[in-house]
Amino acid sequence: MTNSETKATLSFSDGSPSLEMPIYKGTVGPDVIDIRKLYGATGMFTYDPGFMSTAACNSSITYIDGDKGELLYRGYPIEQLAVNGGDFMETCYLLLNGELPTAAQKTEFVDTVTKHTMVHEQMQFFFRGFRRDAHPMSVLVGTVGALASFYHDSLDINDPHHREVSAIRLIAKMPTLVAMAYKYSIGQPFVYPRNDLSYSANFMYMMFSNPCEPYKVNEVLVRALDRILILHADHEQNASTSTVRLAGSSGANPFACIAAGIACLWGPAHGGANEAALDMLTKIGSVDNIPEFIKQVKDKNSGVKLMGFGHRVYKNYDPRAKLMRETCYEVLQELGLQDDPLFKLAMALEKIALEDEYFVSRKLYPNVDFYSGIVQRALGIPTSLFTGIFALARTVGWIAQWKEMISDPEQKIGRPRQLFVGSPTRKVPPIAERG
Ligand code: SDX
Repeated sequence: MTNSETKATLSFSDGSPSLEMPIYKGTVGPDVIDIRKLYGATGMFTYDPGFMSTAACNSSITYIDGDKGELLYRGYPIEQLAVNGGDFMETCYLLLNGELPTAAQKTEFVDTVTKHTMVHEQMQFFFRGFRRDAHPMSVLVGTVGALASFYHDSLDINDPHHREVSAIRLIAKMPTLVAMAYKYSIGQPFVYPRNDLSYSANFMYMMFSNPCEPYKVNEVLVRALDRILILHADHEQNASTSTVRLAGSSGANPFACIAAGIACLWGPAHGGANEAALDMLTKIGSVDNIPEFIKQVKDKNSGVKLMGFGHRVYKNYDPRAKLMRETCYEVLQELGLQDDPLFKLAMALEKIALEDEYFVSRKLYPNVDFYSGIVQRALGIPTSLFTGIFALARTVGWIAQWKEMISDPEQKIGRPRQLFVGSPTRKVPPIAERG
């Protein structure tokens, strides 16, 4: 980042001394005002619940232009990476290292990841403690956090080699853990990873094969899953990434930080929206019920939201939603489900919402979650596992952001302050005098 010639001057109507603050310019996107001296100079904090106007860090990983609906991973537009930028492994390498891999670098990276896909044999006993109908996100929070108990040899976050090994282990083992959570929920045996399959093909194999019959990989479906992973890989300083950074700022080990990110992603306002969007479509049931549903959404007291719509940053169409809709169409065509009623319902709902003043005036457009549930359902993935797939994909983004934070000389433990509106000091009364 570079210092801008312009400075920000904060002046006060009560005549208190004004304060000059530097403005920094990034490569692209909004400039920032460095307010780090504000509290020392004025005894005041800024107030920004939800961090609507706050940059918590500088980063070179992902850039989003919400007004234009643009998403860049290390400068490459998501449309190029998802359509002709190779596979999810290339996106992982790009996010972690800053550049796309050469053929030789990709071969070495994929080979390293492949060789770390198995989990310790004792991991299976963690699963045995969960109910069969436990939500997969509860299983993932538990088992990813538990990974730390197997890797005492590589938990020193200040050792670059330990950071590298932990990154590979997490990227490699997430598909295995997600597939194990699924197999456990349906009472089928866990399927070991196969080193002769690609990352996404191996995940489909661990999810849908069983010991009783041969499994045939469907390359169209594998490519669709791979694209889903690319689209979800990273997304700037979203809630779960900020959670991973905050956990990492205390020096917590990477497995604990990713477990914290999974916990945050679970929320319906964030990664849980794909599951909620499919449930919403199922509840609406038919195109005839859309007007009544839209009426409920507009009624603030109903608490009903159009799940898969709206975004803190995108005030235009989420570029990932467009690509997800295309993938949806391709997968349904491949499976002979082009007349899938939910897909038709989703497209009708999108059309109606995009022509409705309520949504247009609030700049509410479909986000990545609006179509991803329909694609995943067509791939045979159960609704409750949708957010687990999101966590699988986002692990590389969380890890890349965590590594960037750890190696940032400016990084300190994150410790926001508050505007205190509670009781001033008061005396504790004896219990007999209370009430
Ligand atoms: C993800 O941050 C990221 O990058 C996240 C993510 C990533 O890749 O990491 O992109 C993934 O989380 C996508 C978002 C998935 N969530 C949903 O689809 C859930 C539904 N969406 C909303 O909950 C909401 O849009 C948020 C949470 C996504 C964004 O909320 P904001 O930015 O805090 O906006 P807001 O709630 O202040 O909404 C502004 C207005 C309000 O109306 P008014 O008070 O102005 O009258 O729009 C309304 C809101 O009520 N609104 C919606 C709505 N989203 C916002 N009304 C109906 N349905 C919706 N979905």
